[in-house]
Amino acid sequence: MQVLQTPLDIAEKYKTIKNAGVGSERLASKILPIRDFNNWAKMAVIQLCYNYQKSRDISVLDLCCGKGGDLNKYARLGSVSYYAGVDITLHSLIEAIKRYNQKLCELNKNRKFGQPFQADFTLADVMSAPLYKHFQKTKFDMVSCMFALHYAFQSKQTADAFFGNVKNLMAPNGSFVAVFPCKDTILKRLQEQGADLSQGNLVLKNSLYSIKFPNAVNFKANLFGQKYIFDLDEAVGDTAEYLIDMRDFRELCSQNQLTIKHHFPNLETLLQTDQIPQKAKQNFSNMMKRTAKFIFLLNQNLNKGQKMTDDNFWDNIDEEQIDQINENQIQKITDLGQLPEEYLEVIRLYQAVMVVHTNPAEVKSCEKIRIPVPEARRAIDICNLTKEPINLETLRDEFKGEMWEPSVWM
Ligand SMILES: C[S@@+](CC[C@H](N)C(=O)[O-])C[C@H]1O[C@@H](n2cnc3c(N)ncnc32)[C@H](O)[C@@H]1O
Repeated sequence: MQVLQTPLDIAEKYKTIKNAGVGSERLASKILPIRDFNNWAKMAVIQLCYNYQKSRDISVLDLCCGKGGDLNKYARLGSVSYYAGVDITLHSLIEAIKRYNQKLCELNKNRKFGQPFQADFTLADVMSAPLYKHFQKTKFDMVSCMFALHYAFQSKQTADAFFGNVKNLMAPNGSFVAVFPCKDTILKRLQEQGADLSQGNLVLKNSLYSIKFPNAVNFKANLFGQKYIFDLDEAVGDTAEYLIDMRDFRELCSQNQLTIKHHFPNLETLLQTDQIPQKAKQNFSNMMKRTAKFIFLLNQNLNKGQKMTDDNFWDNIDEEQIDQINENQIQKITDLGQLPEEYLEVIRLYQAVMVVHTNPAEVKSCEKIRIPVPEARRAIDICNLTKEPINLETLRDEFKGEMWEPSVWM
């Protein structure tokens, strides 16, 4: 098996990943509960950062934005005036642009779900490119990196470059939020199953995910490049990621005059803590509506004595069945304990951290970006900061049937 290492290899990998939510044409996504929960968790930490803002006209930098899955969450804040998405996978950026265009049209029609905002998309390796040179005078009120920070810990150099970008791009009273796997949880789980961490070929898995360590691992800090291969059903397939030691994270913060404001050692704690805005907590059952239906169907199979690993277990759990269930007749999801252990094991792998400037008064400020919000964008610029050229013809093909014309600048 070839193991992916460079940002461009990662881009190749993400190009092949299906759109969120659908495993095949009719089958429901097996990992729907994980996707729904992660979306709720991201929404919760985004609202946490938003509450920290004094201004109500904010700019957002979404590092490793992928297919723009969080655009909606920012739109719903109702106060975003500018969003910049950066990713190394061109294909994902194209999807993000399409999503943005659709969102913009919706928002222009119906402002109930937020206000329209300007967005830019940049193709770049956020773990090597000095992005702050590109964004020049722009500083962002909210910077996020969701489910991607682990790539930055491939080496001290990549981690330094990443944190340098955060430091230089975050507005004086801004915040940075990241969701990423928890090293302690992973290593403790390996130990609990009796693994000898000093040996290679260690595996942690259930029917939904696997984490394979080709080499020995340990709890020591300052060991960048502690590689594992992560696989999550229908989502990330056999991709090289790197353990993040929180002592290294803290050290990088301190070197960049950043301070951890909140640390949630696993995402489940977001539901229990008072630090998360009440509004986000109240929205939990709502965001887990499809999961409630999915779990209802899944429990029907489990109650018949079937196992999630049986060949035909998933056959009757499809989109159509889910849509037919009346949500008033089934139990709402109010607690993660209602999910089968297989799902919890994946959900509990992740943690969330919110970071701010240690001395905001010492951070150079900048002018607020005020770009008129477009009614609908006719041209979308993808700024290319990589050395690989973007083929404009291919890009045009990707946007065939869309009303927007892409253009590229370097
Ligand atoms: C698991 S996806 C997360 C996407 C999005 N943040 C979300 O939560 O839906 C990880 C993303 O990180 C991007 N990525 C990985 N390494 C990167 C790098 N060095 N520079 C920019 N993006 C990178 C991948 O292309 C992919 O879109």
